[in-house]
Parts: sequence; structure tokens; C-alpha cells
Amino acid sequence: MKAALLIESLTGHTWKAGERVAGLLQQEGWQITGVNRVRQPDYAAVQAADFVIVGTWVHGLFVVGQAPWGLGSIAHLPVMRGKQAAVFCTYALNPGRSVDKLNDTVLRLGADSLGGVALHRAKLDAHCAEFVGRILDHVVVPAA
Ligand SMILES: Cc1cc2nc3c(=O)[nH]c(=O)nc-3n(C[C@H](O)[C@H](O)[C@H](O)COP(=O)(O)O)c2cc1C
Repeated sequence: MKAALLIESLTGHTWKAGERVAGLLQQEGWQITGVNRVRQPDYAAVQAADFVIVGTWVHGLFVVGQAPWGLGSIAHLPVMRGKQAAVFCTYALNPGRSVDKLNDTVLRLGADSLGGVALHRAKLDAHCAEFVGRILDHVVVPAA
């Protein structure tokens, strides 16, 4: 499988998670076509990928009003029809429904999204491994 990762990060946790996820997928034999910022997407990397991962961070008032940061930019990413996808949000306390909101936006880009997970910023290694495990369990690998 070929994966492109598109990441929105303010203080670095989500970027670190994206790099970790990319590394774990590479260990499973996946090719990573790009790890790029949502605001500076590498269109060729997205086009070359058959799986797109979109990650951002949770913004809100910690217990209310949580939403994935950068949804406007994410909604303007290239159309992903025919590609599988998965999403993640990093958070500190309570992600609310951020993952569902992010997933809805990626579905509207035409991707066949498997859904996603919230990754606690203090448990990134364990939560990234769990996320990659779920991707590997649910990905549909095209017949060669
Ligand atoms: C302005 C602001 C608002 C935040 N609101 C929430 C929140 O409502 N709930 C939560 O769990 N974390 C919240 N966080 C924590 C971030 O989601 C968390 O630190 C995240 O990992 C940051 O990702 P980054 O390092 O990639 O920017 C907030 C952080 C900031 C800076």
C-alpha cells in the first residue's frame, strides 16, 4: 500500500504522531509517498497514494466545544475519490466528537474512510501503535 499523510500541528504533537504512524506503516511494508502539512499539501504525493491519513489536534474549551483544528483547510484538500483513508486527532484532556467531525469532512472529500482515533498527547507511542493496528485490520488491499 502507498500512504500519504496530511498533518495540521501547532506545537508538534500531531506532527510527531504522523511521523510515528508513517514509520510503523513502513515497518509493515507500506510505502510513504509524503508526510506534509495540510496547508502545504504535496498534490503528487496524495495522487500517488491509495491510502490517505489526515491528522489534526483538538481545539476547544477542554470540556466543551471541542472540534478538530483546521477543518476549513482540510475541507479544501484535493478530492480523494477511490482512495481509502483514516483520521486521527491528538488531544490533552477530552477530544469530544472531534474524530467523528474530522472523519465526516474526509468522507465528503470522497475518500472511503475507515474512521479514526483520538491519540492522547502523553501516550503517543502506544496510541499510534493502536491506530496502525486498526488500519492494518481494516484496510482493503487490492488484488495484485
Ligand atoms: C488553544 C488550545 C485549545 C485546546 N483545546 C483542547 C480541548 O478542548 N480539549 C483537549 O483535549 N485538548 C485541547 N487542547 C490540547 C491540544 O489538542 C493538544 O495539546 C494537541 O496534542 C496539540 O497538538 P499539536 O502539538 O500538534 O499542536 C488545546 C490546545 C490549545 C493550544
